[in-house]
Amino acid sequence: MVPNKPYAIFMALTFAVCNQKGGVGKTTTCMNLAGGFARAGYSVLVIDADPQGSALEWRNRSEESLLPFELIQLASASIHREIPKLLANSSYELVLIDCPPGAAESKGHGAVTRSALLAADFVIIPVQPTPMDFLATAIMVPLLTDVAAFKPDLRTLLLVSRKPTTASRLTRDVRQALLSTLEIDGLQMEVLETEIHQRTLFAESPGAGKAILDYAPGTKAAEEVELLTKELIDKCLTISASGVSAA
Ligand SMILES: Nc1ncnc2c1ncn2[C@@H]1O[C@H](COP(=O)(O)OP(=O)(O)OP(=O)(O)O)[C@@H](O)[C@H]1O
Ligand SMILES: [Mg+2]
Repeated sequence: MVPNKPYAIFMALTFAVCNQKGGVGKTTTCMNLAGGFARAGYSVLVIDADPQGSALEWRNRSEESLLPFELIQLASASIHREIPKLLANSSYELVLIDCPPGAAESKGHGAVTRSALLAADFVIIPVQPTPMDFLATAIMVPLLTDVAAFKPDLRTLLLVSRKPTTASRLTRDVRQALLSTLEIDGLQMEVLETEIHQRTLFAESPGAGKAILDYAPGTKAAEEVELLTKELIDKCLTISASGVSAA
């Protein structure tokens, strides 16, 4: 069960969901986590920062949105300047930015991701558990280091994504392998406890225009998203609450 608004939020918090690599589950994570936060009672805005518009497509599956949060498209390198304006006249408490792949490019998608990171309090990097994926993710380290020079409090959370459900060499010691590939002095980086597995329901729910908690409640896929939501609420929202808990 996702807890019901355990912490009050006084200043909106922003999460950027990004990775250099395509197809790792950025949009899936962003949309389902937004659904989890909304289910927990928070007012949530998703920014689709990917020109592919996958999140927007998900929203537009039906005329009337079936998502429990707002969504806008803003695939630009000035997200960090636009977000304060968007928040000024709104009651959003949590903002999630779905970034495009190609984060490490110096222009284009890279500039969009850099802007999202500049806007973010937390960076979530979904990573598939293969050595090649770890290396592709490591390409982002210079960008993260660069942004962390401006924002020393920026926290990077690595999320094991699309993990096979059958045990293999790939699924063993993933967390340690990830950290040892990516751990860099000066970056606040950790691997989230919750892992998201490869499950057909995750691939189905966008077609129905719904987040997984509404599309397939009570399933293992939904349970994983509930755990992820709870972990992030406990890890991240307590910071915004400055220790003041309504729980
Ligand atoms: N945990 C999962 N289990 C099964 N399918 C998944 C899972 N996560 C993502 N998918 C599917 O894999 C494909 C890629 O996922 P998604 O669009 O979330 O990745 P992405 O990183 O946002 O991709 P892109 O780089 O193109 O933006 C989609 O078809 C999605 O439905
Ligand atoms: Mg995407």
